[in-house]
Amino acid sequence: MNDKLKNPVFVTQPDLPPLGEFTELLKQIWDNKILTNNGPFHTQFEKALADYLGVKYLSLFSNGTLALITALQTLRITGEVITSPYSFVATTHSLWWNNIKPVFADVEPTYFNLDPEKVEAAITPQTTAIMPIHIYGYPCNIERFQQIADTYGLRLIYDAAHAFGLKVNGESILNFGDLSVLSFHATKVFNTIEGGAIICNDEKTKQRIDYLKNFGFADETTVIAPGINAKMNEVQAAYGILQLNYIDSLISKRRDIVKFYRDQLRNIDGIKFLDDITGVNHVYSYFPIFVEKEKYGRTRDELYEELKQHNIFGRRYFYPLISQFPTYRGLVSAKAENLPIASKVALEVICLPLYPSLNKDAIQITTNTILNFKG
Ligand SMILES: Cc1ncc(COP(=O)(O)O)c(C=O)c1O
Repeated sequence: MNDKLKNPVFVTQPDLPPLGEFTELLKQIWDNKILTNNGPFHTQFEKALADYLGVKYLSLFSNGTLALITALQTLRITGEVITSPYSFVATTHSLWWNNIKPVFADVEPTYFNLDPEKVEAAITPQTTAIMPIHIYGYPCNIERFQQIADTYGLRLIYDAAHAFGLKVNGESILNFGDLSVLSFHATKVFNTIEGGAIICNDEKTKQRIDYLKNFGFADETTVIAPGINAKMNEVQAAYGILQLNYIDSLISKRRDIVKFYRDQLRNIDGIKFLDDITGVNHVYSYFPIFVEKEKYGRTRDELYEELKQHNIFGRRYFYPLISQFPTYRGLVSAKAENLPIASKVALEVICLPLYPSLNKDAIQITTNTILNFKG
């Protein structure tokens, strides 16, 4: 086998529903001329998605970032919110857009989720909420976070952008905390091109979310708050309905690829990866590997560049840490001394290509390259 791929392989590639099926639904949109504002596909998709995920109340959004921003508005969060620096920037940006001060706490060393003990130590009288992320689709310590939230009277909003379909002991992870927020961006396990959702536990909260995502309109003449325009349109919703028919087989293909990666990489000294957790239905959002320089004999960046030479384009998710960006680096909590584990893992991680149609040769060349490059 040639050791350089003919065509570049990127960290992900979106899955699209069959075009013929999509054009059938587009014809219906063209006929009924309802393009947005809670149209028939929106209603159908919202219900089908809530059923699929095993959640009671779900509100569709045009993207995950607007859903995060609206989630904070829903609960009237102000002051300080404790969150993880080891995530995609949108998590903390949603706080900034609400004039909330982010307080970064470190992650735990096993799955790199926000560490509840570090969160508890960072609480001040200004703290109003905690915003953890189920990073790479590995569940946070949900019991401990709920306990802390209950003890200190804080709200708990999960950024669940990586946790579509994730279940723990048969229960959707999205049912924990006050709100959970999903992203259906093209790069995600489940995509509606762009899209997102907020999951909540009661009808009144869903109603408030639905008002807020539509400028605050409660009826023709009543505007209850300075809401935003974050509605999912009919084209996205129709596309989403089709995607739901294929999602299980797509996740199963991801599972096979991850198994192959793990089998090939298990015995390379200095290359670590995450295994499945008993009782968790994994959805395989990402396949991160962690390069330990002392044992592997090369740095993460050297391996990252070497992979590129073979036409394999992984991503250093999540590097740099959010706390290192100019907007946030002046915060006391952003100092590297406050975030030793996140700072270390950000220098070790590469997410390898992972998507259902990724071919075996590409995976084999990736793992061969990692093996052969060992110093
Ligand atoms: C952890 C996390 N939060 C939020 C987002 C933002 O979602 P969106 O791209 O749908 O706005 C993403 C992905 O893009 C993400 O990975």
